[in-house]
Amino acid sequence: MNPTRSVSVPFALHAVGEPASHVRAASDRRYLLCRPTEFEVVYAINPWMDVEVPVDRGLALQQWEALRDAYLTLGHEVVTVPNGVGLPDMVFAANGGVVVDGIAVGARFANVQRVPEAALYRQHLRAAGIDVVHEPEFVNEGEGDLLVAGEVILAGHGFRSDHRAHAEVAALTGREVVPLRLIDPRYYHLDTAACVLDDDTIAYLPEAFDPVSRRELERRFPQAVLVDEHDAAVLGLNAVSDGRNVVLNQEAQHFAAQLHDRGFVPVPVDLSEFRKAGGGPKCCTLELRGAPVTNPQGLEEVVA
Ligand code: ARG
Repeated sequence: MNPTRSVSVPFALHAVGEPASHVRAASDRRYLLCRPTEFEVVYAINPWMDVEVPVDRGLALQQWEALRDAYLTLGHEVVTVPNGVGLPDMVFAANGGVVVDGIAVGARFANVQRVPEAALYRQHLRAAGIDVVHEPEFVNEGEGDLLVAGEVILAGHGFRSDHRAHAEVAALTGREVVPLRLIDPRYYHLDTAACVLDDDTIAYLPEAFDPVSRRELERRFPQAVLVDEHDAAVLGLNAVSDGRNVVLNQEAQHFAAQLHDRGFVPVPVDLSEFRKAGGGPKCCTLELRGAPVTNPQGLEEVVA
């Protein structure tokens, strides 16, 4: 691992340059992605989904490949899993579980349409080299609601994940779990309302949380980047950071400027097709933390 490695990022904001005063360090990551060969919107389980609005699957596949290529360009390892037949939302790999210290807690889905994904993801996590893969008792939608922030796990509830999953995840991972109640149905998963930028820095939309949760976030993260409604409404917070580079929806321009001011490097991508299902870069990405690196070149590797 070379935390100060510099990468060439072939994206629009590269030209903006980086503030010399504040250089942040990236760390190598290992991401699991699902190739969206079944992606479509045929049911509506969040307010973004409208079965009347057609999805261009060819364009979606191109956008997903650009996301994968952005990770590879940044030097990260990408493990790709196939899309289970008849599972249009399986592309949202973040929901497949949460992995910390090489231990995976699998998902249990709230909506019947996504239930079969859980077993497939547990199988793929094992194939990706995670030896301990737990099947949970209570509903948790993986990294959609469980964001690892340094030593703690921020845990969204209110729409999908069951609050009883918090004690379960804490017991299985040995990590402190911080419950956060989501109150706006557009931000139904925590990863649509908050984003972990590095071990001590997060970004979030305050209005997406109830007053108690807002106070908790203010207390724990006084330096947080507060994101505005416009950037949140393009799913700008559904972003993936390696500690330095932040892959985010290209429409979230003010958030990108805020990141730049804080010494992060915004890496904009276009995932407009996936927004039709309520997803963005983070939804498509499950981080494998503490898992053995099987592919040190960081080239795409497919797990059957
Ligand atoms: N249509 C999917 C659902 O409603 C989108 C999931 C997005 N994933 C995420 N991590 N926020 O479940």
